[in-house]
Amino acid sequence: MSRIYLSAPDVRGAERELVDAAISSNWLAPVGPDLDAFEREVASVTEVAYAVGLTSGTAALHLALHELGVGPGDTVLVSTFTFASPANAAAYLGATPVFVDSDPETWELSASLVSEELAASEKRGQLPKAAVVVDLYGQCADYDELLPLFAEHGIAVVEDAAEALGATYRGRPAGSFGKCAALSFNGNKIITTSGGGMLLCNDEPFAARVRHLATQAREPVAHYEHLEIGYNYRLSNLLAALGRAQLATLGDRLQRRRAINELYRESLGSLPGVSFMPVASYGEPNHWLTCITIDPDIAGFSREDLRLHLETADIESRPTWKPMHMQPAFKDAPARVDGTSEQIFATGLCLPSGSGMSDSELDTVIAKILEYVSRH
Ligand SMILES: Cc1ncc(COP(=O)(O)O)c(C=O)c1O
Repeated sequence: MSRIYLSAPDVRGAERELVDAAISSNWLAPVGPDLDAFEREVASVTEVAYAVGLTSGTAALHLALHELGVGPGDTVLVSTFTFASPANAAAYLGATPVFVDSDPETWELSASLVSEELAASEKRGQLPKAAVVVDLYGQCADYDELLPLFAEHGIAVVEDAAEALGATYRGRPAGSFGKCAALSFNGNKIITTSGGGMLLCNDEPFAARVRHLATQAREPVAHYEHLEIGYNYRLSNLLAALGRAQLATLGDRLQRRRAINELYRESLGSLPGVSFMPVASYGEPNHWLTCITIDPDIAGFSREDLRLHLETADIESRPTWKPMHMQPAFKDAPARVDGTSEQIFATGLCLPSGSGMSDSELDTVIAKILEYVSRH
């Protein structure tokens, strides 16, 4: 048996055809017709007007904050319970991230803590220049609660939908909230271009600026003219062809992730001390990763015990995100936290959830967990 990964790339066949066609057409220069089409197709799925294909989700967050005018000395409010990317993007611009904790009912950014932080920062005389709100593990944040809080203070919001393609919030797609949004097509995401990302928005000049900055800020003249410093962040046409093939089966991929989540819930939901990441009533997650928490006092084992047991069977599982305010790289950044993400980090485990996982692989993971539980 080969290793069962957390969320391996899921390649279904059409990829080869589209990438071969892109090679045959000699569109190997960074931009080209597949990139244009991929941008249109993703914009359509996420119901936004403009999409800019980039080399990564991190590049999308970096350019989004850049265009929102974030610079040295500014602060950026960021969810603490997530991957390092949004905090890094703020730091690239010389800004300081201000971390805010999650709501235990959803694991998403807490509106009450955001409200407290904005009131306190207003008092201090330094409101955040922007905010990055993360759709964690493929579930949208509570935008009806959060967006008015930021709007009240004139703070632009970037939706980090890197993990959330295909999820919805009150019927609206992830990627369509805030001033703009970032998607990731990293190898472990819902669809992949091996590495890639996209910026989404409804503002034509904003999208044009991001496209310009991502293309080394080259002016449209024959010689190489630069009025400002740019970045080499454009997604290549070849990788966009790969993305188009993946996007064509988005519906099946989502269905599979949801079915995996359901089977885990059916099989493990009644185990003592085991709980699943809550599903908020306001939307439909894409179940990018199925996450559980384990209360060691009730279960008789910790999430680390279970993770190491799965590892002996060559099954990859991972602790939930280590909150950013606990990271040595951000030890000096301010944080408004109440213990929620620290508690989830201490007890949380992400289970193999890739849409390419076979039924027998899924059965193996579940059997291994049940076998371990039966020994305690
Ligand atoms: C929440 C979140 N934001 C941003 C990123 C960054 O995306 P990328 O790896 O494409 O830079 C990721 C994952 O990779 C992520 O999970």
